[in-house]
Amino acid sequence: MSRVLVIGGTGNIGRHLVTGSLNAGHPTTVLVRPATVSSDSDKAKFLNSLKARGASVVYGDMNDHGNLVEAIKQHGEVVISAVGHGRPEELDGQLKILEAIKKAGTVKRFVPSEFGCDVEHAERTLEPAKSMIKSKLRVREAIRAAGIPHTIVCSYWAMGLLLSALANSGGDGPLSTGVEIFGDENSRAIFVDERDMSSLVIRAVEDPRTLDKVMYVRPPTNICSFAKLVHMVEKKTGRTLKRHYVSEQEIAKKIQEAPFPLNFQLAMVHSTLVHAGACEGAIDPAVGVEATRLYPDVKYVTMEGYLDSLCII
Ligand SMILES: NC(=O)c1ccc[n+]([C@@H]2O[C@H](COP(=O)([O-])OP(=O)(O)OC[C@H]3O[C@@H](n4cnc5c(N)ncnc54)[C@H](OP(=O)(O)O)[C@@H]3O)[C@@H](O)[C@H]2O)c1
Repeated sequence: MSRVLVIGGTGNIGRHLVTGSLNAGHPTTVLVRPATVSSDSDKAKFLNSLKARGASVVYGDMNDHGNLVEAIKQHGEVVISAVGHGRPEELDGQLKILEAIKKAGTVKRFVPSEFGCDVEHAERTLEPAKSMIKSKLRVREAIRAAGIPHTIVCSYWAMGLLLSALANSGGDGPLSTGVEIFGDENSRAIFVDERDMSSLVIRAVEDPRTLDKVMYVRPPTNICSFAKLVHMVEKKTGRTLKRHYVSEQEIAKKIQEAPFPLNFQLAMVHSTLVHAGACEGAIDPAVGVEATRLYPDVKYVTMEGYLDSLCII
């Protein structure tokens, strides 16, 4: 069992990766910025719960080279980054992680912060999401140029983050006045539960088949149109929702008018619609592997299963 160091383990995605690593029995360490513990009681509580499960916490910052090299040498045969896309310097800051990995010389697998669409096939993405895509591309290119052993994970839409917004929607939530359907009945997206994504990442970091590859996570049961998602919600609630179909052009206009982070989220929806073919297309075996083929035993959380776990009234 490799020692796993997670950078960004207190974030939305990172916390699932830390939990996945602990669940699989890896000696797991989270690199945490010292100020986080004193300024955010939820994160401090989460870190205590990880420690109770056997995780170690080291204090540091990806911008502190010496400290990061030491943390990697001591704790990270596998280094997973889940730094966020909220600020441009966060994703680009991963170039400093690469410098530290090169200096440490002990890392047998690095997983950069991606966990979304395939940034090499997202050229029509609009701002503000376009800058995030460019940062992720820069990091991919730098990893390959430096010859760092890696696995890149494309797991498309994080199911929990997206679907949990529907919870308790009988009051003034998003479903009370009707619903917007992006694209048409055929505009499909891929949804992956964060827990499934994380357990796959942890399997992949020990698997020679994913070395220096992009691992695409495309469970067939979870390739679904926004329209079908609304149909599932109607079936669960027994309500008929007023539908408003929003075209790619209308989304592009809304992006111009919306504040952050809504404009970012809409830009990702727009990108999903305009690149839908690419995310379901054939995978070049020289570049990528398909997680459902590598690990056929995995039972994915389905859209219906996730909706059933929510309190939607
Ligand atoms: N597919 C999807 O639907 C989806 C959804 C969301 C995110 N994502 C992707 O998942 C990745 C993670 O995003 P997220 O939303 O989980 O991020 P997040 O919640 O903003 O968390 C970012 C994490 O990075 C840490 N961090 C930031 N700067 C750091 C530094 N200088 N040194 C060390 N740690 C630092 C933060 O630590 P502190 O606790 O100290 O702030 C936090 O733990 C991104 O690549 C994002 O694009 C995908």
